Amino acid sequence: DLPERVTIYEVGPRDGLQNEKSVVPAEVKAEFIRRLAAAGLETIETTSFVPPSWVPQLADATEVLADLGDAGLGPRRPVLVPNERGLDNALAAGVGAVAVFGSATETFARKNLNRTVAESIEMFRPVVERAKDSGLWVRAYVSMCFGDPWEGPVPVEQVVDVCQRMMDLGADQLSLGDTIGTGTTGHVSRLLDALDAVGIGSDRIGVHFHDTYGQALANTMTALRHGVCVVDASTGGLGGCPYAKSATGNLATEDLVWALDGAGVQTGVDLTSLVQTSVWMAGHLGRPSPSAVVRALAGS
Ligand code: HMG
Ligand code: MG
Repeated sequence: DLPERVTIYEVGPRDGLQNEKSVVPAEVKAEFIRRLAAAGLETIETTSFVPPSWVPQLADATEVLADLGDAGLGPRRPVLVPNERGLDNALAAGVGAVAVFGSATETFARKNLNRTVAESIEMFRPVVERAKDSGLWVRAYVSMCFGDPWEGPVPVEQVVDVCQRMMDLGADQLSLGDTIGTGTTGHVSRLLDALDAVGIGSDRIGVHFHDTYGQALANTMTALRHGVCVVDASTGGLGGCPYAKSATGNLATEDLVWALDGAGVQTGVDLTSLVQTSVWMAGHLGRPSPSAVVRALAGS
């Protein structure tokens, strides 16, 4: 059975924009976030506190949050932080939620974090500890939960091991990243069953599918039938990780809302205003949204 209500964890302003080559002005980013909130999205990942040399697009994190004021803060406005320096900057900006981001594979840990898997978990340890002590909500992402562009399919036991180590840090929620979109429904079921078997139940899990192979929505529906109630999506289907070869956009929020509306699952999101926001953002980025639902509804 499907859940009655699904929380959409919107990643457009962060995952969606981080891969864009031309820098979107901070005031446009802030306006994007305001429009997403106005469309009914309650949880919005706003930006990342990482070195500008690593992700130039999000170098304006402090500026974006200053522009947003209270609308950019609180437990439903997480930001990415890889290390204590990032946490310090996020705390100075007044955030109420952070996300650390690990990798199930050694190759991606090296490429994305310049660390081994073990070293990156040690880097996150004081971040999660201090964030919890400061009363913040904490999410732990694990990337490459299905396939890795360099290592191929990733064994379920390897993913479960990293997920356990990440959750043992004390995070509130785990997000399973299909960074390059190669996951399929059977694989999703096997991973969720294996996590459940070690005590990481679906009530603590969010799913994060990229749509590179067109599987994101099918995978999401499978996860919902397993009891997952938090789904990451990116308005307009923007996105991709600059450090993961062949990663494209996330599941488009519009595709998800269309499917859930049809199934009678509540999201609180107004599809029409979301599509208008995507069209507006596409104007700033200079190309149309890859989302099938946006294309269909924007023309109608
Ligand atoms: P490093 O180069 O090893 O870092 O990178 P370092 O500690 O040696 O520091 C290098 C310089 O950066 C130093 O400055 C630091 O002070 C500074 P210098 O002394 O040379 O002048 N520095 C910072 N500045 C600002 N903010 C900071 C910060 N930290 C250090 N937080 C590091 C290691 C972890 C920092 C780097 O690898 C990194 O930031 N990686 C993140 C890359 C990234 O953001 N990737 C995309 C997000 S992950 C993703 O998209 C996947 C996801 O969507 C899920 C999925 O799809 O699977 C979440
Ligand atoms: Mg991602």
